[in-house]
Amino acid sequence: MKTLTIAKPDDWHIHLRDGNALPRTVNDVAGWAQRAIVMPNLVPPVLNAAAAMAYRQRILAARQPQHQHFEPLMILYLSDKTTIEDVTEAATSPHIHGIKLYPAGATTNSEAGVNDLTYLYPVFEAMEKHNLPLLIHGEVTDSDIDIFDREKIFIDRFLSKLVTDFPGLRVVFEHITTTDAVEFVAEARDGVAATVTAHHLLYNRNDLLVGGVRPHYFCLPILKRNSHQESLRKAVISGNPRFFLGTDSAPHAKAAKESACGCAGCYTAHAAIELYAEVFEAEGALPLLEGFASHFGADFYDLPRNTETITLVKESRTVSDTFTMGDETLIPLRAGELLNWRIRQ
Ligand code: DOR
Ligand code: ZN
Repeated sequence: MKTLTIAKPDDWHIHLRDGNALPRTVNDVAGWAQRAIVMPNLVPPVLNAAAAMAYRQRILAARQPQHQHFEPLMILYLSDKTTIEDVTEAATSPHIHGIKLYPAGATTNSEAGVNDLTYLYPVFEAMEKHNLPLLIHGEVTDSDIDIFDREKIFIDRFLSKLVTDFPGLRVVFEHITTTDAVEFVAEARDGVAATVTAHHLLYNRNDLLVGGVRPHYFCLPILKRNSHQESLRKAVISGNPRFFLGTDSAPHAKAAKESACGCAGCYTAHAAIELYAEVFEAEGALPLLEGFASHFGADFYDLPRNTETITLVKESRTVSDTFTMGDETLIPLRAGELLNWRIRQ
């Protein structure tokens, strides 16, 4: 039997939602991760430290007895109204680890996001001064820009300038999907990193569209062509510490996904480390999984590396067809299909 023991992973980008979704989402990620960066795109969004602290308590309360180790790392939502005081307050909290920039209209619950980056320069300056990371959903939202080009054009129009204008600002380019983003991050100054999801490593736009539209593969940024997928796979097995694990696991009810206008998001929290292990194994790079999943993110966020371990066993299991999330049905990624790895309990 093939096994792999690694330091306990963390998830540096996840959507846990709120209310009666939390028992599902929190306990799924806590099954394999010690900590997770919790995205703030709730309705209403998590705009300040007080809201983040209240949300954190709701997450902690949702942990089952066997998952009391799990630690949510809170993030604020950047809006046109974010103030320097919001930054200062966040920077002094031990529980807040960054601020997330969503261009207005880019994705789920981003209506309150940012309309004009230049307007927020005093906020970025304060973040740089307080060493508070900026997490970026890097896509332009102009209606004349093709959805497959949104990430590259965001780099060219905004990201290059931002990292130059604030040379000390730590930046995470979230859920990157293109060769352009891989190259940008690899060549950027120190303090620039990226998260990579399991679904962008495993799938490309053919999986989404050939033979019929598969709504459970629809996410944002959208899956790209296979050459971009190949670049992502090479980036995560390169051993470069700028690339680390962030699932972007994002639950939407079955009815909201399987709809004439379906929501964006893939749910991977139930099996994320197993999915990443599949990629690293297929690339002949299993020894590099630990750095990507368990070391590089902690190093970037100036947090201690986890000392506990998990053991993955090469043994197949079938994912349930459906999960429940509160009163709703949730379709996980790989529903009814096989996984090649499982976690030894
Ligand atoms: O696919 C996505 N779903 N991408 C995002 O950026 C947001 C997320 C969500 O919150 O549903
Ligand atoms: Zn996300």
